[in-house]
Amino acid sequence: MSTQHPERDNPAPRKKVTTFTFRQKKERGEPISMLTAYDYPTALAMDQAGVDAILVGDSLGMVVLGYQNTLPVTMEEMLHHCRAVSRGAHAALLIGDMPFMSYQVSVEEAVRNAGRFLQKGGMDAVKLEGGRERLEVVRAISGAGIPVMGHLGLTPQSIHQLGGFRAQGKTALAAKRLVEEAVLLEQAGCFSLVLESVPSQLGEMISHKLSIPTIGIGAGPGCDGQVLVTHDLLGLFDRFTPKFVKKYASFREEMLGAFNAYIQDVNSRNFPAKEHTFEMSEEEWQALLREE
Ligand code: KIV
Repeated sequence: MSTQHPERDNPAPRKKVTTFTFRQKKERGEPISMLTAYDYPTALAMDQAGVDAILVGDSLGMVVLGYQNTLPVTMEEMLHHCRAVSRGAHAALLIGDMPFMSYQVSVEEAVRNAGRFLQKGGMDAVKLEGGRERLEVVRAISGAGIPVMGHLGLTPQSIHQLGGFRAQGKTALAAKRLVEEAVLLEQAGCFSLVLESVPSQLGEMISHKLSIPTIGIGAGPGCDGQVLVTHDLLGLFDRFTPKFVKKYASFREEMLGAFNAYIQDVNSRNFPAKEHTFEMSEEEWQALLREE
């Protein structure tokens, strides 16, 4: 009996996920999976695993670059990591997160910077934070043919205005404002909307109201899709863990264990062993000794 399974061993390449796929998934009631990535090997693994969308988030600043928040992240840092991700992922929809001050100063600058994510970063779409105050920018970017994902609720680029990383839309008045802003963002041309840290009833209400898919992070199961910061999911970032995070692995402990074992091996001369070294033939070795 043959033990070969051509379909399993060599699966057909996955079809590219597009903004149209996003819309179709919502219409069919199929959940959308999204994760953040900032480098080539992670993007490669995620794409192979079959994730629908990869966000090169400005969370890069906190989980990879070690900043206290996302505010110091620059366009150049974002584009550098976008390029690495785009080399690894071919099927997932790739979304580049517009960093603080890349879209707030003027509409013209916002469109130019959004274009750089596609031209220089290899992304398919961009994401930006904010509601009512961003409608003109959303219209201009999507008018230039660039798909825009909105982001409402806890918007980390406004932490100083929000008074820290805290859940949003918890009063009837604040929730009503978010529902209105979600509708306005859809009307302005967003193809999808991230809802971060809002009550689950509100996540569900907004998802029912919109025809574009919502992607929740701490917004409950009623959203059309879910996103997590990959370093949280893998247990690689332990400065703080938001309530909405589910940890699927403990990579920090794994890394510590591996680094400790390596240091011990080097100190005890157990590494490198014979299988890790190259040998010269006896003849060449003797010739070298004669030269010395
Ligand atoms: O930067 C990021 O990773 C994000 C997600 C939390 C949605 O904006």
